Amino acid sequence: MLAQVHSGALVGIDAHPVQVEIDVYNGLPAVTVVGLPDSAVKESAARVKSAIVNSGFPFPARRITVNLAPAGLRKEGSGFDLPIALGVLIGLGLLPSEKIGNYLIVGELSLDGSVKEVRGALSVAIAARDMGFQGIIVPESNMGEAAVVEGVDILGVSSLVTAVAFLTGRVAIEPAKPNLDQMAKNIGNYAVDFRDIKGQEYAKRAVEVAAAGGHNVLMVGPPGSGKTMLSQRVPTILPEPVFEEALETTRIYSAAGLLGKEKSIITRRPFRSPHHTVSDAGLIGGGAIPRPGEVSLAHNGVLFLDEMPEFRKNVLEVLRQPLEDGDVTISRAHIAVTFPARFMLVAAMNPCPCGYRGDPKHECLCSRQNIERYWAKISGPLLDRIDIHVEVPSVEWRDLTGKEESESSEQIRNRVNRARNIQLDRLSKHKIFSNSQMKSSLIKKYCSLGQDSLNFLEKVVERLGLSARAYHRILKIARTLADLEGSENIGSDHVSEAIQYRSLDRRYD
Ligand SMILES: Nc1ncnc2c1ncn2[C@@H]1O[C@H](COP(=O)(O)OP(=O)(O)O)[C@@H](O)[C@H]1O
Ligand SMILES: [Mg+2]
Ligand SMILES: [Zn+2]
Repeated sequence: MLAQVHSGALVGIDAHPVQVEIDVYNGLPAVTVVGLPDSAVKESAARVKSAIVNSGFPFPARRITVNLAPAGLRKEGSGFDLPIALGVLIGLGLLPSEKIGNYLIVGELSLDGSVKEVRGALSVAIAARDMGFQGIIVPESNMGEAAVVEGVDILGVSSLVTAVAFLTGRVAIEPAKPNLDQMAKNIGNYAVDFRDIKGQEYAKRAVEVAAAGGHNVLMVGPPGSGKTMLSQRVPTILPEPVFEEALETTRIYSAAGLLGKEKSIITRRPFRSPHHTVSDAGLIGGGAIPRPGEVSLAHNGVLFLDEMPEFRKNVLEVLRQPLEDGDVTISRAHIAVTFPARFMLVAAMNPCPCGYRGDPKHECLCSRQNIERYWAKISGPLLDRIDIHVEVPSVEWRDLTGKEESESSEQIRNRVNRARNIQLDRLSKHKIFSNSQMKSSLIKKYCSLGQDSLNFLEKVVERLGLSARAYHRILKIARTLADLEGSENIGSDHVSEAIQYRSLDRRYD
Protein backbone atom coordinates (compact mmCIF):
# COMPACT_ATOMS: atom_id res chain seq x y z
CA MET A 1 0.00 0.00 0.00
CA LEU A 2 1.16 3.51 -0.82
CA ALA A 3 1.28 6.17 1.91
CA GLN A 4 2.12 9.85 1.78
CA VAL A 5 3.30 12.12 4.63
CA HIS A 6 4.18 15.84 4.44
CA SER A 7 7.52 16.91 5.81
CA GLY A 8 10.03 19.69 5.28
CA ALA A 9 13.71 20.07 4.45
CA LEU A 10 15.81 23.01 5.51
CA VAL A 11 17.50 25.04 2.76
CA GLY A 12 19.36 27.92 4.35
CA ILE A 13 16.90 29.11 6.95
CA ASP A 14 13.80 28.22 4.93
CA ALA A 15 11.93 24.95 5.16
CA HIS A 16 10.92 23.55 1.78
CA PRO A 17 8.06 21.05 1.47
CA VAL A 18 9.04 17.41 1.04
CA GLN A 19 6.62 14.59 0.28
CA VAL A 20 7.57 11.37 1.99
CA GLU A 21 6.09 8.51 -0.07
CA ILE A 22 6.22 5.02 1.31
CA ASP A 23 5.40 1.92 -0.62
CA VAL A 24 5.07 -1.36 1.29
CA TYR A 25 4.83 -4.46 -0.85
CA ASN A 26 5.69 -8.14 -0.98
CA GLY A 27 9.23 -8.93 -1.89
CA LEU A 28 12.63 -9.55 -0.40
CA PRO A 29 12.53 -7.76 3.00
CA ALA A 30 14.50 -4.49 2.76
CA VAL A 31 14.06 -0.77 3.22
CA THR A 32 15.34 1.51 0.47
CA VAL A 33 15.40 5.32 0.63
CA VAL A 34 15.56 7.23 -2.67
CA GLY A 35 15.37 10.89 -3.66
CA LEU A 36 18.80 12.52 -3.11
CA PRO A 37 19.12 11.78 0.60
CA ASP A 38 22.37 12.20 2.54
CA SER A 39 23.85 9.48 4.74
CA ALA A 40 21.90 10.48 7.86
CA VAL A 41 18.67 10.09 5.89
CA LYS A 42 19.78 6.71 4.53
CA GLU A 43 20.52 5.50 8.06
CA SER A 44 16.95 6.45 8.84
CA ALA A 45 15.79 3.02 7.64
CA ALA A 46 17.52 1.23 10.52
CA ARG A 47 16.34 3.73 13.15
CA VAL A 48 12.77 3.62 11.90
CA LYS A 49 12.66 -0.16 11.99
CA SER A 50 13.97 -0.37 15.57
CA ALA A 51 11.72 2.47 16.71
CA ILE A 52 8.65 0.77 15.28
CA VAL A 53 9.49 -2.60 16.80
CA ASN A 54 10.47 -1.14 20.19
CA SER A 55 7.23 0.86 20.28
CA GLY A 56 5.34 -2.43 20.21
CA PHE A 57 4.18 -2.42 16.59
CA PRO A 58 4.70 -5.43 14.34
CA PHE A 59 7.23 -5.04 11.55
CA PRO A 60 6.47 -7.74 9.01
CA ALA A 61 9.06 -8.90 6.51
CA ARG A 62 8.02 -6.84 3.51
CA ARG A 63 9.79 -4.70 1.01
CA ILE A 64 9.61 -0.96 1.71
CA THR A 65 10.59 1.86 -0.62
CA VAL A 66 10.77 5.41 0.73
CA ASN A 67 10.82 8.22 -1.81
CA LEU A 68 11.58 11.80 -0.80
CA ALA A 69 10.16 14.20 -3.37
CA PRO A 70 11.05 16.49 -5.06
CA ALA A 71 14.08 14.42 -6.00
CA GLY A 72 16.07 17.52 -7.05
CA LEU A 73 16.13 18.90 -3.51
CA ARG A 74 19.03 17.62 -1.45
CA LYS A 75 17.85 16.33 1.94
CA GLU A 76 19.99 15.99 5.02
CA GLY A 77 19.63 15.09 8.63
CA SER A 78 17.44 12.83 10.64
CA GLY A 79 14.22 14.84 10.68
CA PHE A 80 12.51 12.48 8.24
CA ASP A 81 12.55 9.56 10.72
CA LEU A 82 9.17 10.34 12.21
CA PRO A 83 7.31 10.95 8.91
CA ILE A 84 8.90 7.81 7.45
CA ALA A 85 7.87 5.71 10.47
CA LEU A 86 4.31 7.03 10.33
CA GLY A 87 4.18 6.36 6.60
CA VAL A 88 5.38 2.79 7.12
CA LEU A 89 2.64 2.25 9.73
CA ILE A 90 0.06 3.56 7.26
CA GLY A 91 1.54 1.31 4.57
CA LEU A 92 1.21 -1.65 6.90
CA GLY A 93 -2.39 -0.76 7.59
CA LEU A 94 -1.70 0.01 11.24
CA LEU A 95 -2.55 3.72 11.09
CA PRO A 96 -5.49 5.44 9.35
CA SER A 97 -4.42 8.02 6.82
CA GLU A 98 -7.19 10.64 7.15
CA LYS A 99 -5.70 13.09 9.64
CA ILE A 100 -2.06 12.95 8.69
CA GLY A 101 -2.46 15.08 5.55
CA ASN A 102 -3.24 18.15 7.68
CA TYR A 103 0.21 18.27 9.24
CA LEU A 104 3.83 18.93 8.36
CA ILE A 105 5.83 16.41 10.35
CA VAL A 106 9.49 16.37 11.39
CA GLY A 107 11.34 14.51 14.11
CA GLU A 108 14.29 12.25 14.74
CA LEU A 109 13.66 8.82 16.25
CA SER A 110 15.71 7.02 18.86
CA LEU A 111 15.89 3.26 18.61
CA ASP A 112 13.48 3.03 21.57
CA GLY A 113 10.85 5.06 19.72
CA SER A 114 11.28 8.36 21.51
CA VAL A 115 11.33 11.53 19.40
CA LYS A 116 14.42 13.73 19.52
CA GLU A 117 14.87 17.38 18.61
CA VAL A 118 15.66 18.58 15.10
CA ARG A 119 17.16 21.73 13.62
CA GLY A 120 14.93 24.32 11.95
CA ALA A 121 11.59 23.58 13.64
CA LEU A 122 10.73 27.29 13.68
CA SER A 123 11.18 27.47 9.90
CA VAL A 124 9.03 24.36 9.50
CA ALA A 125 6.26 26.09 11.45
CA ILE A 126 6.53 29.18 9.25
CA ALA A 127 6.42 27.04 6.09
CA ALA A 128 3.37 25.16 7.39
CA ARG A 129 1.57 28.42 8.07
CA ASP A 130 2.45 29.80 4.64
CA MET A 131 1.29 26.62 2.91
CA GLY A 132 -1.99 26.55 4.80
CA PHE A 133 -1.47 23.42 6.90
CA GLN A 134 -3.57 23.03 10.02
CA GLY A 135 -0.49 22.32 12.11
CA ILE A 136 2.90 20.74 12.55
CA ILE A 137 3.92 17.68 14.53
CA VAL A 138 7.38 18.23 15.98
CA PRO A 139 9.51 16.88 18.82
CA GLU A 140 8.29 18.16 22.17
CA SER A 141 11.68 19.76 22.76
CA ASN A 142 11.21 21.96 19.66
CA MET A 143 7.78 23.28 20.66
CA GLY A 144 9.03 26.43 22.36
CA GLU A 145 10.68 27.96 19.30
CA ALA A 146 7.80 27.06 16.97
CA ALA A 147 5.09 28.29 19.33
CA VAL A 148 5.57 31.95 18.33
CA VAL A 149 4.15 31.25 14.87
CA GLU A 150 0.46 32.10 14.86
CA GLY A 151 -2.27 30.51 12.79
CA VAL A 152 -0.96 26.95 12.88
CA ASP A 153 -1.20 24.33 15.63
CA ILE A 154 2.16 23.40 17.10
CA LEU A 155 1.86 19.85 18.40
CA GLY A 156 4.76 18.42 20.35
CA VAL A 157 5.25 14.67 20.64
CA SER A 158 7.71 12.81 22.81
CA SER A 159 7.45 9.41 21.13
CA LEU A 160 6.24 7.54 18.08
CA VAL A 161 3.53 6.02 20.26
CA THR A 162 2.13 9.48 21.17
CA ALA A 163 2.15 10.57 17.54
CA VAL A 164 0.23 7.43 16.55
CA ALA A 165 -2.22 7.83 19.45
CA PHE A 166 -2.92 11.39 18.32
CA LEU A 167 -3.35 10.50 14.66
CA THR A 168 -5.73 7.66 15.47
CA GLY A 169 -7.75 10.05 17.62
CA ARG A 170 -7.11 8.23 20.88
CA VAL A 171 -5.44 11.20 22.58
CA ALA A 172 -5.65 14.94 22.09
CA ILE A 173 -2.56 17.15 22.11
CA GLU A 174 -2.85 20.70 23.35
CA PRO A 175 -1.20 23.08 20.81
CA ALA A 176 1.75 24.99 22.27
CA LYS A 177 1.12 28.58 23.28
CA PRO A 178 3.89 31.16 23.26
CA ASN A 179 4.67 32.95 26.48
CA LEU A 180 4.39 36.45 25.03
CA ASP A 181 4.64 38.21 28.40
CA GLN A 182 7.92 36.52 29.14
CA MET A 183 9.17 37.37 25.66
CA ALA A 184 8.26 41.01 26.01
CA LYS A 185 10.04 41.07 29.36
CA ASN A 186 13.20 39.58 27.89
CA ILE A 187 13.48 41.91 24.92
CA GLY A 188 16.46 44.16 25.41
CA ASN A 189 17.31 42.56 28.74
CA TYR A 190 21.07 41.90 28.81
CA ALA A 191 23.41 40.41 31.35
CA VAL A 192 25.93 43.22 30.85
CA ASP A 193 25.53 47.00 30.89
CA PHE A 194 27.52 50.10 30.00
CA ARG A 195 27.19 51.08 33.64
CA ASP A 196 29.91 48.49 34.39
CA ILE A 197 32.51 50.51 32.48
CA LYS A 198 34.31 53.13 34.51
CA GLY A 199 35.76 56.18 32.79
CA GLN A 200 36.67 55.72 29.10
CA GLU A 201 34.32 58.53 28.17
CA TYR A 202 35.96 59.08 24.80
CA ALA A 203 35.72 55.42 23.77
CA LYS A 204 32.14 55.21 24.99
CA ARG A 205 31.19 58.23 22.97
CA ALA A 206 32.80 56.76 19.85
CA VAL A 207 30.94 53.48 20.34
CA GLU A 208 27.68 55.36 20.84
CA VAL A 209 28.24 57.23 17.59
CA ALA A 210 29.00 53.95 15.83
CA ALA A 211 25.81 52.38 17.18
CA ALA A 212 23.79 55.46 16.29
CA GLY A 213 24.81 55.40 12.62
CA GLY A 214 25.32 51.64 12.19
CA HIS A 215 29.01 52.30 11.57
CA ASN A 216 31.59 49.56 11.90
CA VAL A 217 34.24 50.38 14.46
CA LEU A 218 37.87 49.49 15.17
CA MET A 219 39.29 49.88 18.69
CA VAL A 220 43.02 50.18 19.20
CA GLY A 221 44.49 49.90 22.68
CA PRO A 222 46.79 47.97 25.02
CA PRO A 223 45.73 44.70 26.70
CA GLY A 224 43.35 45.18 29.59
CA SER A 225 42.13 48.59 28.47
CA GLY A 226 38.57 47.32 28.18
CA LYS A 227 38.16 46.73 24.43
CA THR A 228 36.44 43.39 24.92
CA MET A 229 34.30 44.82 27.69
CA LEU A 230 33.16 47.71 25.48
CA SER A 231 32.45 45.44 22.51
CA GLN A 232 30.32 43.02 24.51
CA ARG A 233 28.12 45.91 25.49
CA VAL A 234 27.49 47.26 22.00
CA PRO A 235 24.35 45.10 21.51
CA THR A 236 22.89 46.66 24.66
CA ILE A 237 22.84 50.15 23.14
CA LEU A 238 21.53 49.17 19.71
CA PRO A 239 17.78 49.68 19.26
CA GLU A 240 15.75 46.92 20.89
CA PRO A 241 15.05 44.20 18.34
CA VAL A 242 11.53 44.20 16.92
CA PHE A 243 9.60 40.93 16.76
CA GLU A 244 10.51 40.20 13.11
CA GLU A 245 14.20 40.62 13.92
CA ALA A 246 13.92 38.31 16.91
CA LEU A 247 12.14 35.76 14.73
CA GLU A 248 14.80 35.95 12.02
CA THR A 249 17.64 35.64 14.50
CA THR A 250 15.92 32.64 16.06
CA ARG A 251 15.48 30.93 12.68
CA ILE A 252 19.21 31.20 12.07
CA TYR A 253 20.08 29.70 15.45
CA SER A 254 17.43 27.03 14.99
CA ALA A 255 18.86 26.10 11.58
CA ALA A 256 22.34 25.94 13.12
CA GLY A 257 21.09 23.76 15.97
CA LEU A 258 22.26 26.38 18.49
CA LEU A 259 19.06 27.37 20.21
CA GLY A 260 20.10 25.93 23.56
CA LYS A 261 18.00 24.10 26.09
CA GLU A 262 14.90 26.26 26.46
CA LYS A 263 14.47 26.60 22.67
CA SER A 264 12.69 29.87 23.05
CA ILE A 265 12.83 32.87 20.76
CA ILE A 266 16.00 34.99 20.91
CA THR A 267 15.08 38.37 22.29
CA ARG A 268 18.54 39.88 22.50
CA ARG A 269 20.82 41.11 19.78
CA PRO A 270 23.54 38.52 19.32
CA PHE A 271 27.18 39.10 20.14
CA ARG A 272 29.56 36.73 18.35
CA SER A 273 33.25 36.62 19.01
CA PRO A 274 34.92 33.99 16.80
CA HIS A 275 38.50 33.11 17.70
CA HIS A 276 41.15 34.32 15.25
CA THR A 277 41.85 30.72 14.21
CA VAL A 278 38.33 30.48 12.69
CA SER A 279 38.19 29.05 9.15
CA ASP A 280 36.45 30.88 6.34
CA ALA A 281 33.72 28.22 6.43
CA GLY A 282 33.30 28.81 10.16
CA LEU A 283 33.02 32.51 9.55
CA ILE A 284 30.66 32.67 6.57
CA GLY A 285 29.04 29.23 6.78
CA GLY A 286 29.72 25.93 5.09
CA GLY A 287 29.22 22.21 4.85
CA ALA A 288 27.94 19.97 2.06
CA ILE A 289 24.51 21.39 2.77
CA PRO A 290 25.52 24.81 4.07
CA ARG A 291 24.90 25.82 7.66
CA PRO A 292 25.11 29.38 8.93
CA GLY A 293 28.50 30.72 9.99
CA GLU A 294 29.50 33.40 12.48
CA VAL A 295 28.45 36.28 10.19
CA SER A 296 24.90 34.92 10.17
CA LEU A 297 24.89 34.05 13.86
CA ALA A 298 25.77 37.74 14.37
CA HIS A 299 22.83 38.83 12.15
CA ASN A 300 20.98 41.77 13.75
CA GLY A 301 23.77 42.06 16.30
CA VAL A 302 27.51 42.41 16.64
CA LEU A 303 30.39 40.47 15.11
CA PHE A 304 33.46 41.07 17.25
CA LEU A 305 36.88 40.35 15.81
CA ASP A 306 39.30 40.50 18.70
CA GLU A 307 43.01 40.73 17.77
CA MET A 308 42.01 41.45 14.18
CA PRO A 309 45.57 41.26 12.73
CA GLU A 310 45.80 37.65 13.93
CA PHE A 311 42.99 36.50 11.62
CA ARG A 312 44.09 34.87 8.38
CA LYS A 313 43.97 37.18 5.39
CA ASN A 314 41.68 34.95 3.31
CA VAL A 315 39.30 34.73 6.26
CA LEU A 316 39.05 38.51 6.50
CA GLU A 317 38.56 38.65 2.73
CA VAL A 318 35.34 36.63 2.88
CA LEU A 319 33.81 39.25 5.15
CA ARG A 320 33.50 41.62 2.24
CA GLN A 321 30.31 40.22 0.73
CA PRO A 322 28.27 40.19 3.94
CA LEU A 323 29.59 43.64 4.89
CA GLU A 324 28.54 44.95 1.50
CA ASP A 325 25.25 43.08 0.98
CA GLY A 326 23.95 42.16 4.43
CA ASP A 327 23.78 38.51 3.45
CA VAL A 328 26.07 35.73 2.38
CA THR A 329 25.72 33.20 -0.42
CA ILE A 330 27.37 29.81 -0.23
CA SER A 331 27.50 27.80 -3.44
CA ARG A 332 27.76 24.05 -3.66
CA ALA A 333 27.49 21.64 -6.58
CA HIS A 334 23.79 21.03 -5.99
CA ILE A 335 22.73 24.14 -4.26
CA ALA A 336 23.36 27.81 -3.54
CA VAL A 337 22.11 28.98 -0.19
CA THR A 338 21.79 32.56 1.03
CA PHE A 339 21.82 33.36 4.73
CA PRO A 340 21.06 36.76 6.26
CA ALA A 341 24.22 38.40 7.62
CA ARG A 342 23.61 42.01 8.55
CA PHE A 343 25.74 42.82 11.56
CA MET A 344 27.74 45.62 13.06
CA LEU A 345 31.45 44.82 12.86
CA VAL A 346 33.43 45.67 15.96
CA ALA A 347 37.13 44.95 15.68
CA ALA A 348 39.90 45.32 18.23
CA MET A 349 43.66 45.29 18.08
CA ASN A 350 46.74 46.27 20.00
CA PRO A 351 48.76 49.23 18.81
CA CYS A 352 51.81 47.00 18.26
CA PRO A 353 52.78 43.33 18.63
CA CYS A 354 53.64 43.65 22.34
CA GLY A 355 50.57 45.78 22.90
CA TYR A 356 52.06 48.68 24.84
CA ARG A 357 53.12 51.22 22.25
CA GLY A 358 52.21 54.65 23.56
CA ASP A 359 51.28 53.31 27.00
CA PRO A 360 52.66 55.52 29.78
CA LYS A 361 53.19 52.64 32.24
CA HIS A 362 54.81 50.00 30.02
CA GLU A 363 57.75 50.07 27.70
CA CYS A 364 57.21 48.92 24.12
CA LEU A 365 60.10 46.89 22.82
CA CYS A 366 58.78 46.33 19.31
CA SER A 367 60.96 47.27 16.36
CA ARG A 368 59.64 49.73 13.85
CA GLN A 369 59.69 47.01 11.24
CA ASN A 370 57.59 44.67 13.38
CA ILE A 371 55.08 47.40 14.04
CA GLU A 372 54.80 48.15 10.32
CA ARG A 373 54.30 44.47 9.57
CA TYR A 374 51.63 44.19 12.26
CA TRP A 375 49.65 47.07 10.83
CA ALA A 376 50.08 45.93 7.26
CA LYS A 377 47.96 42.87 8.10
CA ILE A 378 44.80 44.90 8.38
CA SER A 379 45.26 47.35 5.54
CA GLY A 380 43.03 47.24 2.52
CA PRO A 381 39.46 46.25 1.82
CA LEU A 382 38.34 45.42 5.33
CA LEU A 383 39.68 48.57 6.92
CA ASP A 384 37.93 50.29 4.09
CA ARG A 385 34.59 49.27 5.49
CA ILE A 386 35.26 50.51 8.98
CA ASP A 387 34.03 54.06 9.44
CA ILE A 388 35.13 54.74 13.01
CA HIS A 389 38.54 54.28 14.60
CA VAL A 390 38.92 54.77 18.31
CA GLU A 391 41.94 54.66 20.55
CA VAL A 392 41.25 53.03 23.89
CA PRO A 393 44.03 53.89 26.37
CA SER A 394 44.57 52.08 29.67
CA VAL A 395 42.04 53.04 32.31
CA GLU A 396 43.18 55.58 34.84
CA TRP A 397 43.35 54.11 38.32
CA ARG A 398 41.25 56.90 39.76
CA ASP A 399 38.55 56.24 37.16
CA LEU A 400 38.50 52.55 38.03
CA THR A 401 38.21 53.15 41.76
CA GLY A 402 36.10 56.30 41.60
CA LYS A 403 32.56 56.44 42.94
CA GLU A 404 31.35 58.21 39.82
CA GLU A 405 28.23 56.50 38.41
CA SER A 406 28.48 55.67 34.73
CA GLU A 407 25.59 56.03 32.32
CA SER A 408 23.43 52.95 31.81
CA SER A 409 22.98 51.19 28.49
CA GLU A 410 19.34 52.23 28.52
CA GLN A 411 20.21 55.93 28.69
CA ILE A 412 22.62 55.59 25.80
CA ARG A 413 20.19 53.44 23.83
CA ASN A 414 17.52 56.11 24.08
CA ARG A 415 19.81 58.56 22.29
CA VAL A 416 20.78 55.94 19.73
CA ASN A 417 17.10 55.24 19.09
CA ARG A 418 16.32 58.88 18.44
CA ALA A 419 19.18 59.16 15.99
CA ARG A 420 18.17 55.94 14.24
CA ASN A 421 14.56 57.08 13.89
CA ILE A 422 15.70 60.27 12.18
CA GLN A 423 17.74 58.14 9.78
CA LEU A 424 14.83 55.80 9.11
CA ASP A 425 12.60 58.76 8.21
CA ARG A 426 15.21 60.08 5.87
CA LEU A 427 16.57 56.89 4.33
CA SER A 428 13.89 54.20 4.26
CA LYS A 429 12.62 55.46 0.90
CA HIS A 430 16.09 54.62 -0.43
CA LYS A 431 15.78 51.12 1.07
CA ILE A 432 18.56 51.64 3.59
CA PHE A 433 18.35 52.06 7.36
CA SER A 434 21.37 53.88 8.65
CA ASN A 435 23.90 56.52 7.71
CA SER A 436 26.66 53.96 7.32
CA GLN A 437 24.84 52.51 4.31
CA MET A 438 24.78 55.75 2.31
CA LYS A 439 26.66 55.65 -1.01
CA SER A 440 28.15 58.74 -2.60
CA SER A 441 24.95 60.06 -4.24
CA LEU A 442 23.08 60.01 -0.93
CA ILE A 443 26.04 61.46 0.91
CA LYS A 444 25.93 64.35 -1.52
CA LYS A 445 22.20 64.72 -0.98
CA TYR A 446 22.05 64.49 2.80
CA CYS A 447 25.45 65.61 4.07
CA SER A 448 25.83 69.08 2.68
CA LEU A 449 27.93 71.44 4.74
CA GLY A 450 27.66 75.14 5.42
CA GLN A 451 30.41 77.34 4.02
CA ASP A 452 32.33 77.48 7.32
CA SER A 453 32.39 73.71 7.84
CA LEU A 454 33.23 73.16 4.21
CA ASN A 455 36.24 75.46 4.39
CA PHE A 456 37.36 73.81 7.59
CA LEU A 457 37.05 70.28 6.21
CA GLU A 458 38.84 71.23 3.00
CA LYS A 459 41.75 72.56 4.99
CA VAL A 460 41.98 69.40 7.08
CA VAL A 461 41.75 67.12 4.06
CA GLU A 462 44.53 69.04 2.37
CA ARG A 463 46.78 69.22 5.41
CA LEU A 464 46.42 65.52 6.26
CA GLY A 465 46.39 64.44 2.63
CA LEU A 466 43.11 62.50 2.97
CA SER A 467 41.50 60.61 0.09
CA ALA A 468 38.05 61.13 -1.36
CA ARG A 469 36.91 58.01 0.48
CA ALA A 470 38.09 59.34 3.78
CA TYR A 471 36.30 62.59 2.99
CA HIS A 472 33.03 60.76 2.40
CA ARG A 473 33.41 58.84 5.63
CA ILE A 474 33.90 62.00 7.60
CA LEU A 475 30.69 63.38 6.10
CA LYS A 476 28.73 60.24 7.03
CA ILE A 477 29.97 60.29 10.61
CA ALA A 478 29.26 64.01 10.84
CA ARG A 479 25.71 63.25 9.67
CA THR A 480 25.34 60.74 12.49
CA LEU A 481 26.68 63.25 15.02
CA ALA A 482 24.14 65.83 13.85
CA ASP A 483 21.38 63.20 14.07
CA LEU A 484 22.41 62.34 17.62
CA GLU A 485 21.91 65.98 18.45
CA GLY A 486 18.63 66.15 16.54
CA SER A 487 20.14 68.80 14.30
CA GLU A 488 19.08 69.12 10.65
CA ASN A 489 22.31 70.88 9.72
CA ILE A 490 25.79 69.51 10.01
CA GLY A 491 27.90 72.04 11.88
CA SER A 492 31.65 72.50 12.11
CA ASP A 493 31.68 70.92 15.60
CA HIS A 494 30.21 67.76 14.04
CA VAL A 495 32.85 67.82 11.34
CA SER A 496 35.72 68.27 13.74
CA GLU A 497 34.52 65.44 15.98
CA ALA A 498 34.08 63.20 12.92
CA ILE A 499 37.68 63.82 11.91
CA GLN A 500 38.85 62.49 15.27
CA TYR A 501 37.27 59.13 14.45
CA ARG A 502 39.46 58.75 11.38
CA SER A 503 42.76 58.56 13.20
CA LEU A 504 44.13 55.78 11.00
CA ASP A 505 43.63 57.57 7.69
CA ARG A 506 46.99 59.25 7.90
CA ARG A 507 48.54 55.83 8.03
CA TYR A 508 46.90 54.50 4.88
CA ASP A 509 45.45 56.98 2.45
N1 LIG B 1 36.85 50.95 32.11
C1 LIG B 1 36.79 49.87 32.88
N2 LIG B 1 35.92 49.81 33.91
C2 LIG B 1 35.84 48.72 34.69
N3 LIG B 1 36.61 47.62 34.52
C3 LIG B 1 37.49 47.60 33.51
C4 LIG B 1 37.62 48.72 32.63
N4 LIG B 1 38.57 48.44 31.72
C5 LIG B 1 39.01 47.20 32.00
N5 LIG B 1 38.37 46.70 33.08
C6 LIG B 1 38.62 45.37 33.70
O1 LIG B 1 39.73 44.81 33.04
C7 LIG B 1 39.39 43.55 32.46
C8 LIG B 1 40.05 43.41 31.11
O2 LIG B 1 39.37 44.18 30.15
P1 LIG B 1 39.20 43.71 28.66
O3 LIG B 1 37.95 44.28 28.15
O4 LIG B 1 39.34 42.25 28.56
O5 LIG B 1 40.45 44.41 27.98
P2 LIG B 1 41.03 44.22 26.53
O6 LIG B 1 40.02 43.51 25.74
O7 LIG B 1 41.28 45.61 26.05
O8 LIG B 1 42.29 43.46 26.70
C9 LIG B 1 37.89 43.55 32.39
O9 LIG B 1 37.37 42.26 32.52
C10 LIG B 1 37.48 44.42 33.53
O10 LIG B 1 37.37 43.67 34.71
MG1 LIG C 1 40.27 41.65 24.87
ZN1 LIG D 1 55.12 47.04 21.34
